[in-house]
Amino acid sequence: MDFTLPILAPSILASDYTRLGEDIEKCNQSEVQWLHCDIMDGHFVPNISYGPKFVEAAGSCTDAFLDVHLMIENPDQYIERFVDAGADQITVHQEACPHLHRTIQNIHNHGLTAGVALNPGTSLQTVEPVINDVDLVLLMSVNPGFGGQSFIENTYQRLQKLSVMRDEHGAGFLIEVDGGVNLDNIQKVTKYGADVLVAGSAVFKAKNIPERIKNLTQKAKVGKGKIA
Ligand code: DX5
Ligand code: ZN
Repeated sequence: MDFTLPILAPSILASDYTRLGEDIEKCNQSEVQWLHCDIMDGHFVPNISYGPKFVEAAGSCTDAFLDVHLMIENPDQYIERFVDAGADQITVHQEACPHLHRTIQNIHNHGLTAGVALNPGTSLQTVEPVINDVDLVLLMSVNPGFGGQSFIENTYQRLQKLSVMRDEHGAGFLIEVDGGVNLDNIQKVTKYGADVLVAGSAVFKAKNIPERIKNLTQKAKVGKGKIA
């Protein structure tokens, strides 16, 4: 599947769960390409979000690419259930995968693209062994577990280093940034190398969601030099 970069990926963690379909429809109207689904188990991160049935419900409201982010222990045990729920991509945390290479193979064997996520305190070098196997590297720009947190500033340097690593290895993965992305920083985040921008609160807490998506997308494109 080809996407127009940069990609804005609204995180439905921040949506109004009593009006999930309506919130997603506002994303559909704004031609959102990806929807980010944050799965939290209360063990890997200190919060519990939602499971496969919720992802399935969200997927029934959209044709957008379902970008599932597993912030859970033992992710291998749940890959099949999120595949069945309609996930298009599954991103696992490097910190939760003692057999990361095999986990990525497992996701690929189910016909999905595979991502690996790094917490703010995890070295970029930990993904070097799989850098040519993954389709996406997700840099957490907040400590995982909650929406509405502030962007961690040294993410910019990590973005630059990861871009260099990608070039040095001749790798083709997308770089995703997740957490604290908003109207004030999205242009700089894309300028420093992000291809996919996750935004939860910045999208779903806005008074006018379609207008906010448009503004975020515009600023992201400016950062990529796509428009003046
Ligand atoms: C945090 C999640 C993020 C979060 C983003 O653990 O991985 O995707 O939902 O939410 P905001 O954009 O509100 O920081
Ligand atoms: Zn996420």
